[in-house]
Amino acid sequence: MRKNVLAADLVACGTLAFPQSGPTVDQRVDDLLKQMTTEEKIGQLSQLFDFGDPKPIEAEVAKGHLGSLLFVTDPAVINRFQHMAVEQTRLHIPLIFGFDVIHGFRTIFPVPIAMAASWDPAGALKAQTIAAREARAVGIHWAFAPMLDIARDPRWGRMVEGAGEDPYLGAAMAAAQVRGFQGEAIGSPEHLLATMKHFAGYGAAEGGRDYDASYISEAQLRNVYLPPFEAAVKAGVGSVMSAYMDLNDVPATGNRWLMHDVLRDEWKFQGFVVSDANAVKSLVTHGFAKDERDATVRALNAGVDMEMAIGATAYSTNLAAALKAGDVTLKQIEDADRNILAMKFRMGLFEHPYVDEAAAAKTLATPEHRTAARVAAERSAVLLRNEGGLLPLKKGAYSKIAVVGPLADSQVDTLGSWAFQEDLTETVTVMAGLRTNAITEGRVTYAQGVQISRKFPSFFDEIFKLKQPAPWNSKHETDEFNKAASLARASDLTILVLGEAQNMSGEAASRDSLSLPGRQEELMKAVTALGKPVVLVLMNGRPLDLRFAADRVPAILEVWYPGTQGGTAVANLLSGEAVPGGKLPFTWPRSEGQIPINYSHNTTQAPEEQGKRYWAEESTPLYPFGFGLSYSKFSFSNLKVAGRIVTAQVENTGTVAADEVAQLYIHQKYGGASRPVRELKGFERVTHAPHERKTVGFEVKDDDLKYWSAAKKAWVLESSMFDVWVGADSTATLAGSFSN
Ligand code: BGC
Repeated sequence: MRKNVLAADLVACGTLAFPQSGPTVDQRVDDLLKQMTTEEKIGQLSQLFDFGDPKPIEAEVAKGHLGSLLFVTDPAVINRFQHMAVEQTRLHIPLIFGFDVIHGFRTIFPVPIAMAASWDPAGALKAQTIAAREARAVGIHWAFAPMLDIARDPRWGRMVEGAGEDPYLGAAMAAAQVRGFQGEAIGSPEHLLATMKHFAGYGAAEGGRDYDASYISEAQLRNVYLPPFEAAVKAGVGSVMSAYMDLNDVPATGNRWLMHDVLRDEWKFQGFVVSDANAVKSLVTHGFAKDERDATVRALNAGVDMEMAIGATAYSTNLAAALKAGDVTLKQIEDADRNILAMKFRMGLFEHPYVDEAAAAKTLATPEHRTAARVAAERSAVLLRNEGGLLPLKKGAYSKIAVVGPLADSQVDTLGSWAFQEDLTETVTVMAGLRTNAITEGRVTYAQGVQISRKFPSFFDEIFKLKQPAPWNSKHETDEFNKAASLARASDLTILVLGEAQNMSGEAASRDSLSLPGRQEELMKAVTALGKPVVLVLMNGRPLDLRFAADRVPAILEVWYPGTQGGTAVANLLSGEAVPGGKLPFTWPRSEGQIPINYSHNTTQAPEEQGKRYWAEESTPLYPFGFGLSYSKFSFSNLKVAGRIVTAQVENTGTVAADEVAQLYIHQKYGGASRPVRELKGFERVTHAPHERKTVGFEVKDDDLKYWSAAKKAWVLESSMFDVWVGADSTATLAGSFSN
């Protein structure tokens, strides 16, 4: 019997547990604290951005009044700051350098939602191991990832940065990424400190509008939003980032219940908490704190150890006065220092503060890293439709292939958001990948067709000055559209590469609509109307309104933002060198009017009408959670439930070696609260040779059956009957049951 992948397994294996604070570290921290002035103690609690003007930062570093810097990525600059911190200050305390290492550093992996779609925690672990190795090589110590926010509203742009809608899948990806970043234990060579973010509830922003308030009941918070965070703590995550928004009217960054009662008292978290950028100062903006000094006091009281800010931190400006006035105690400041300094010791920064500048470049983007990025992109693709077996493309069947769309040959869009250190010369677009693929080379011609852009620019566009091409005028627009349509007409097959540009999906990239931006839908309709075969390759970080395509475009392949080697991976998938095996990590709605929609809803009155709740449109999703096709076919049979052990047979009934993700769902039939119709409680991605049959097995543990009871304000494990399903997605029909 094969073992299923459970978040708990990842936590349990190896020496993942957070290293207990040994006497040496505690002793060293105490010794240091005894020597520190109050100013130095306050200084450790600040983290500043380096956006290119080093002067004000240098002044703080030289005085020993700064704990950390973020956004420095040049090893020479890192060493320069570090030499100042270590050699010019009284106590030689090193800085800890942080960066948004989200899905790769130089070698960019598929975006996090894509990694979740691979249903392959081991793959995510490997990707973040490589990301850590590259970032550490330039002197970075600390990654602001993984983002563990459950996202059930795809209007929210940051869905792309997380693992989607499900707490169980989210917990498995969380634990894997923490382990990838940190290695066996905090301080492992070539690894980083990880940050679980954004604590907590950020994904439930009202209307999907980034930064807007979240209202989440405690039961929903405990049962849905918090499990990935708890899994990360169990996996030993070293730091936490507090979220921006109000959670039930209390800003997360001023929320003592979250950062103290839950995080430290219940979960026994031993690392340190950093605020999100400027989130302490914005406690004033929320109408929560009276002024920045009040914000400082309330954030520290709530449990924010380090403040991240642009310019000066509120802590550095206000803590001394707050201490003098008795609004905070020295012990509070020292406790925050303890959390931070212990981590600097554990990371080995006192022994090894500097980075080897000469060696740094050698580690970046090695062929091995690029291969891993390609494999990850292949494993994360989800085949949504394949009528008539159009894919994989038959060798020699098409002599002229049109490659059309605004994302087909755009390197920055292939990478997705949060890619700052990429090398575009290494970045392969879909068009570039097809040009060199054995099946398509010499046959492909490209036309962009349409241009897509945001109405309101992203602040990332401004900060990082991404090159935005000049907008086309209306004549140019018509010409390009017609050129693409003519190219499709003159070809035997069109590969449309559509979706959202990278700056349309990410932070500050929320939308009121799920439509394909710009004239892409029109272009798709024009090309489809030609009556020739069409393949739609989608690049996006959220579900889009695909109702036309789902009905009329024969093949749809979701490739997300696939990263540095994305184009090669997509070409391999289209040509059959790689077989899609990814599954959706969220429920795909038909239109934005269905939001929120997720598979683990409760059943209430008239469940037989569940698909007809709206009178004008189905209320079922377009594609269910966990869904994804293959070039092969799989069947599930022989479900056996013996106590809490559930087994089933998975057979590849087709002729192609391929992967299937066996998924286990359960449902508690009655009890102290209505429970969701289904909840994922196990999964395993298994590779099958043609006609191979394998048995998958899952053990349902107590933790899988427990839920947070709003009535009892506690976790409960009730006596009840439980339905069980095993299958290829959340609509699996192979069923059994057990009682508890
Ligand atoms: C984001 C964080 C990020 C931080 C530092 C913030 O705007 O919300 O996720 O880590 O910036 O770049």
